[in-house]
Amino acid sequence: MTLRRSNALLLLGTLLAVLLAGCGPVRSVKVIKLAHALDPSHPVHLGMARFAARLAEKSGGRLRVDLYPSGQLGSERECIELLQLGGLGMTKASSSALEGFAAEFRVFGLPFLFRDEAHRWAALDGEVGREILLAAEGKFLRGLCYYDAGTRNFYTTKRRVVRPEDLAGLKIRTQESPMAIRMVRALGASATPIAFGELYTALQQGVVDGAENNPPSFHLSRHYELCRHYVLSEHTAVPDVLLISTHLWRQLTSEEQRWVQEAAGESERHQRELWNEATRRALDAVRAAGVEVIEPEKALFQERVAALHEEIARELPAVGELARRVREARP
Ligand code: GCU
Repeated sequence: MTLRRSNALLLLGTLLAVLLAGCGPVRSVKVIKLAHALDPSHPVHLGMARFAARLAEKSGGRLRVDLYPSGQLGSERECIELLQLGGLGMTKASSSALEGFAAEFRVFGLPFLFRDEAHRWAALDGEVGREILLAAEGKFLRGLCYYDAGTRNFYTTKRRVVRPEDLAGLKIRTQESPMAIRMVRALGASATPIAFGELYTALQQGVVDGAENNPPSFHLSRHYELCRHYVLSEHTAVPDVLLISTHLWRQLTSEEQRWVQEAAGESERHQRELWNEATRRALDAVRAAGVEVIEPEKALFQERVAALHEEIARELPAVGELARRVREARP
């Protein structure tokens, strides 16, 4: 090696050392993938975006959440299953979609369970709500918080639904939820479980005649283009759940777990503040697009499904007991 060449190498080495010293110790960043089925402008997605931002701040950039909305990594059910296998770190699922993984979540599928919004939050934020959040932990699904998913309402491609009788004989899409299936049947319609991302086509092709969902999801899925009547039956108020794979949770240090839980709690509060305004805007948007928004006599729907509460308590006493505790929750 010539003297000039070895001097040049020495200089390069020194420069590198100075540069690295300037960077400080190399810090590793843990990247968490969070995938779900909703549109990125949905208020529930905005809740998750807040979670990602707060976690980045709390961890000084050491925990990074990458969001994959719109079913990019799979349907709601597929994402839940990936969490169980450890192939995906986090997802957001409707509690209805969790009923098959932990029966405790069925309690939220009981129609007309909550007296009003204040009662709903008292139950979800109280002991019983927190208990249900962790009910699927043994199945590698750890609930971190609830997001507001409002109340669900029917819509059809065929006819105006004003009274429960108007649903008779219609094929209604449900979530993959035993409770939703029973409720739709109790209302005299037939129930067809279909993944949310496949529903637009199913409505278009007449595989089903209608479905039910909250206003932001009805609007952002563009189902309103096919279903021109939206009836505010408000039959269920099923919360969404932010989930972390128990595999990933166990890999986190206790400090990281604390950041994750705190960021989830902060995003939960933020998301709830967004919900009512988002609902109002969604209803305005579908009305402006020519959809008829119907305010029915809700008691008629309620009467039809009232027996479900007792039936479930008889068949699944543990769920019946949770329902009793939910009913007793006081704001
Ligand atoms: C709601 C919920 C979603 C769910 C959807 C459905 O929009 O937030 O998580 O996928 O309902 O009806 O499938």
